[in-house]
Parts: sequence; C-alpha cells; structure tokens
Amino acid sequence: MGLWGKREDMLVYGREPFNAEAPRHVLAEGPLTSLDGFFSRNHGAVPDIDARSWRLTVDGLVERTLSISLEQLTRQFAQHEVTATLQCAGNRRAGLAEVAEIRGEDPWGPGAISTARWAGAPLADVLAAAKVLAGAAHVAFEAPDVCETAEPPTTFGGSIPLAKALSGEVLLAWQMNGEPLPAVHGAPVRVIVPGWIGARSVKWVERVTVQTEPSANFFQARSYRVLPPDFDPDLAGPLDGISLGPAALTTEILSPTGMSPLSCGPTELSGYSFAGDGRQVARVDVSLDDGRHWVQADLDEPQSPWAWLHWRATVTLPSGETVITARAWDSTGAAQPESAAALWNPKGYANNSWARLRVTCRD
Ligand code: MTE
Repeated sequence: MGLWGKREDMLVYGREPFNAEAPRHVLAEGPLTSLDGFFSRNHGAVPDIDARSWRLTVDGLVERTLSISLEQLTRQFAQHEVTATLQCAGNRRAGLAEVAEIRGEDPWGPGAISTARWAGAPLADVLAAAKVLAGAAHVAFEAPDVCETAEPPTTFGGSIPLAKALSGEVLLAWQMNGEPLPAVHGAPVRVIVPGWIGARSVKWVERVTVQTEPSANFFQARSYRVLPPDFDPDLAGPLDGISLGPAALTTEILSPTGMSPLSCGPTELSGYSFAGDGRQVARVDVSLDDGRHWVQADLDEPQSPWAWLHWRATVTLPSGETVITARAWDSTGAAQPESAAALWNPKGYANNSWARLRVTCRD
C-alpha cells in the first residue's frame, strides 16, 4: 500500500504536500471511486487532529454562535448522503501545459477527479440552528493546515455564496463510501460542495463564518482564479481574474489508456463526463478524425445529479496512429470547447477542452 492508504500505482506529484491521482483504468472501474484510488490534493501537511477535542465554530452573521463537538454534529443533526464527484480546478492541466508552460503547478492528467458517496449533516441544517441574520451573502470555511508556499504562508480556506450553502446538497461530511473519512480526505469533518471546484470542499474544517463578502483567504482571493493569458501570476493582485466556483463541463477518455499498442478493429471506448453545478450530461460524442465525423456514445445512468457518468462507444480503429477525440454536451445545450489553446491561463485551471488520446493499432 502506498502513502495515505493509496494504491501503489497512483501517480504521485508530491509526498508532502501529498498530491496524487489514479491511472485511467482505476477511474473506469465504476461510478464510485475506491478510497485507495481517490485523488488527493493538498496545499500543506495533513494536520494531526484529535477527533475527541475537535470542535466546529459557527459564527459571523448568525443569531447564535455555535461550538459543536463531533458527537453533537453526528447525533443532533440528521445524516444525509450525497453521491458527488469532486474535481480539482487543475484537473487535465497537462493539456494546457502542452500549449505553453505553466509555472509552479503540477501537471495533473485526467485523474484529479473522483466520485464518492458522502455522508454528513447538511450545512443548511447547521446554519438553521445558528439562525442566519439579514445581510448575509457568503459562507466562509477555515481549516488549520498551513500552505508554506503561499506568500505569506497561510492556512487553507474559501467560501461559497449563501444560496449554495443553504441548498441541501452541501454537507459537513464525516463519511466517504460508508467509511469514516480518511485523514488525507479531511477527517474528522470536511465540507462537500457538489458541482463546484474541489477547492471549496474544505477539509479539516474548523470554522464556518457567515459574512457579507467572499472569504479573504489566499485560496479564495488570490488563488483558484482564471487570470488573463498575459498576466504574470506573481504580480497578480487580490481579486484579479475570475474566481472559480461551479465546475465546467468536461470529458476524458479512460479506455483505451493509450499506454500500449492495440489490435485494429472494433474497440470499445469508455470515459467519463461531468457537467458541474446543476447541469446534467446530455450527450457524448467520439470521433476518430478530430471532429469531422462523430459517433454518439451510450451513457450510463449517473448515480446522482451531482455525479459524473461513464459512457461507452464502439468504433473501428484503423491500422497505425489515431487520435481519439471525445466531447460532451450538457442539459443547457452547451458543448465543450475544441481547443486547449483558447482556454490557456497562467495557473492552468479549468481545462475542459475536447479530450484527445493518441493510440497505435497493429493488424
Ligand atoms: N482543504 C484543506 N483544508 N486543504 C487543502 O489543501 N485542497 C482543496 C480541497 N480542500 C484542500 C482542501 C482542493 S484544491 C481539492 S481539489 C480538494 O480538497 C481535494 O480533496 P481530496 O484530497 O479529498 O481529493
């Protein structure tokens, strides 16, 4: 077994902070990702938290400030389950790095995305107990882990608008696929914000603050923002660029993996598509000639409105080299953009361009 209980074949970008994604075939295994194959994205060391002394503070624009123990959270609030896909804003960054260099960021492939069945208390129920006051517009989360490479070094945090926080799907989660939340995924309790970039699903959450403005935390105000292509990220000021929230419609090819030569002829392609906040995947197309002709894929039933779906299509692969292309459409009728070049941004976020995979076939 690898670090933090992960599979030996994870692609590990760093041991501390621990950053790792599963190879394609693991993501193809089923609608839920096993705990040992679930990607992990960390900005600092995993904090050592004693669940018995852990408390969650709920403060800010509330009638009653709360300080809740783990036992109170799990006993006094009804447990809800949500199957939700978690996707890092840096998923598929490698495709942007092929266009132009991205400094100081890991070249995540298609695996900075995974799906679990999360269980916990709806944040809305906890906020109802604290009674949100008029004028509130955002809910901020704070965690104790320290990112040493931020300037200055800072703890992790972020926020979501109050309307999303009050939607039933946002959880203060203590279980993942029926197991207690593993340390690397935020034990004892983390936020799960279905449909939004992974960064807003704050792990090891200790404080929930209701406020008028978005969080001033580095990871909300300065990071996880799409800067214009000509911006130097080192010179970007707070609030420059577009703050990322809802996830963008995306697709990847999982099988074949592109790692070894294939036999020519009929071949089943499979992959995932994920539509993000409040949207559903409506159609997936695959092409063997870079989009001149498309074949519609069959879609698996998604496990929930907040989860990815897997798709499959059978095509006849010719001898030699072929680039397989895949793209999705969502329930608003929007399709993925064709080129990564048009999306390139200095921090390499939100690459949702068409998936492309080069394969070689032999007769
Ligand atoms: N929460 C804390 N406290 N610290 C972090 O570094 N990383 C965020 C988010 N929550 C992070 C965090 C990012 S960028 C992502 S993509 C997800 O956690 C990854 O969650 P996972 O490690 O459980 O897959």
